[in-house]
Amino acid sequence: MASASIGLASKLSSFSGSDFLSSSDLNTSQVLSLFELAKQLKFGNRRIDLGNRVLGLIFKKASTRTRVSFQVAMARLGGQTVDLNPQVTQLGRGEPIKDTARVLSRYCDVLAIRTFSQAELSEYAEWSSIPVVNALTDLEHPCQALADYLTIQETFNELKGINLSYIGDGNNVANSLMICGAMLGVNVKICSPNGFEADSMILKKAKSLTEFGSKISICNDPSEAVKGSQVIYTDVWSSMGQEDEEVKRKEIFETYKVDKELIESADNSVILLHCLPAHRGEEITEEALESKNSRIFDQAENRLHVQQALLAVQLGGL
Ligand code: CP
Ligand code: NVA
Repeated sequence: MASASIGLASKLSSFSGSDFLSSSDLNTSQVLSLFELAKQLKFGNRRIDLGNRVLGLIFKKASTRTRVSFQVAMARLGGQTVDLNPQVTQLGRGEPIKDTARVLSRYCDVLAIRTFSQAELSEYAEWSSIPVVNALTDLEHPCQALADYLTIQETFNELKGINLSYIGDGNNVANSLMICGAMLGVNVKICSPNGFEADSMILKKAKSLTEFGSKISICNDPSEAVKGSQVIYTDVWSSMGQEDEEVKRKEIFETYKVDKELIESADNSVILLHCLPAHRGEEITEEALESKNSRIFDQAENRLHVQQALLAVQLGGL
């Protein structure tokens, strides 16, 4: 094995068998090593065959990117995925998580779970003897943040000192961006209307992770927020589960739209990110989404590479 691969393995081996429930479950060295592994896999410089391991997907909410990128990642690792849609399992009829998790641990090697509450995800992790991955909860979307920062690193060849301004709802995506950005030395500003700020406990956690000099802040004025930014990020104003607030939120968030004018107020080299799916004409204009600044589809592609790296590490494949 080449010495670079041995170096990566030694930095990542402690994460083998671990859950990934929050962006804070990985440390800075592990995130950076994971990015190296993801790039090796992406550019065909490394192949990892885990030998027919099985990923179980429990998704209580819709998904295109997360579901498909996990399925493809597992296939590329020589494994398989089983779809454990709660509507067709006994979960949908009320079988307790503590029973489901113990049974599934006897069949599968890893679980990726998309659900509403972080507490439910933690309950799965508590009762599973296999690694559990957060595929999105109302509180965090840590796999998304990994792909986001990999995309930023690929664009600017660095992360430390990059200014990222997130414009919109202080939601799960914003929360994971703060935690992961704090660990990577990125200055993260979350700019939201009053009453829609990022979670205060997550903000506190992110601020406690700033040993690499990152500044984590919240603010309310989008045009001020983007000054000097190399990355503008946005997400939907109403997340899954908030459909009944859509009308009210459209009014409140109207001035938090990412458009050409906002992009022009940022740094000349600014790139635009969005986790997708996007609501064109709401949080982002068609013109902005399709602009030369957009790296949104590279970002979506990186979900695959970073999750393939994550699964390989969790399943002890290095
Ligand atoms: N970004 C993201 O998680 O997309 P999906 O909801 O399609 O998985
Ligand atoms: N904040 C959005 C992200 C979707 C990928 C949601 O939770 O619906």
